[in-house]
Amino acid sequence: MLYIWLEGEINDYLGKIIPNPIPPLVAIPTTAGTGSEVTQFTIISDTKRDIKMLLKGPCLIPKLAVIDPFFTLSAPPKVTSSTGLDALTHAIEAYTSKKAQPLSDIFAISAVKRIFKNLLKTYNNGKDTDARREMSIAALEAGIAFNNSSVTIVHGMSRPIGAIFHIPHGLSNAMLLNNCLEFALKGAVERFCDLAKAIGTYKEGMTELEGGQSFINSVGKLCSDLNIQTLEEFGVDRNEYFGSLDKMAEDALQSGSPQNTRRNPQKEDIVKIYRSLWK
Ligand SMILES: [Fe+2]
Repeated sequence: MLYIWLEGEINDYLGKIIPNPIPPLVAIPTTAGTGSEVTQFTIISDTKRDIKMLLKGPCLIPKLAVIDPFFTLSAPPKVTSSTGLDALTHAIEAYTSKKAQPLSDIFAISAVKRIFKNLLKTYNNGKDTDARREMSIAALEAGIAFNNSSVTIVHGMSRPIGAIFHIPHGLSNAMLLNNCLEFALKGAVERFCDLAKAIGTYKEGMTELEGGQSFINSVGKLCSDLNIQTLEEFGVDRNEYFGSLDKMAEDALQSGSPQNTRRNPQKEDIVKIYRSLWK
């Protein structure tokens, strides 16, 4: 195999597909979250411009992934919860994306079920090997799902918060999750209702909208049980946050991810959701 050095700066590849082969890549996950072991995406922080660059290309899919849940046993509770919610976000976004397709749906639904059954268990008892194994499988499934159908508004809005305020990826996703899903629900009522059926919160007699809402309520309850911090609790400065709204909204849209949502968010929608995060 001939490896050709890429020309230019790494940020020249923002938003483009990297065409060149790279040396063989082996991925060994030590958390159950990102799904990077099976995806063509990677994130590199551009600290000069305060953005997280989404880079993509089939060459970024590892040649080999070693997924052994024992490597995740020592992950502390905060890392366990935020990475697990990252995996949940991948699965939900993959299932409700405009680019969802039948095969990615199978992996997404399976991941959502496993995460609802096991994430809280791993948070409360990191040594629960059965639950850790289920979470490792779920993160893998969610990775396969979003690698084929993309992420949507949560990830699009999460990267700017993470880049400017240095909030870990899974945590900024979790902070946004409920408010973004409330926005996305109206464009994908049936899909959210499917998710409610998958985790058992849909009850006979409910409308699809009520079913979808019951799923989102369960996501909120899970985030609360996992003690997800607010922006204020994390130490974000209120003035700096509100002063960054315009840049964050621009950067979110620039990434292309929000446009995969089945309800097309405009810049003012994104700003409104960012504002709503400040309790
Ligand atoms: Fe993610």
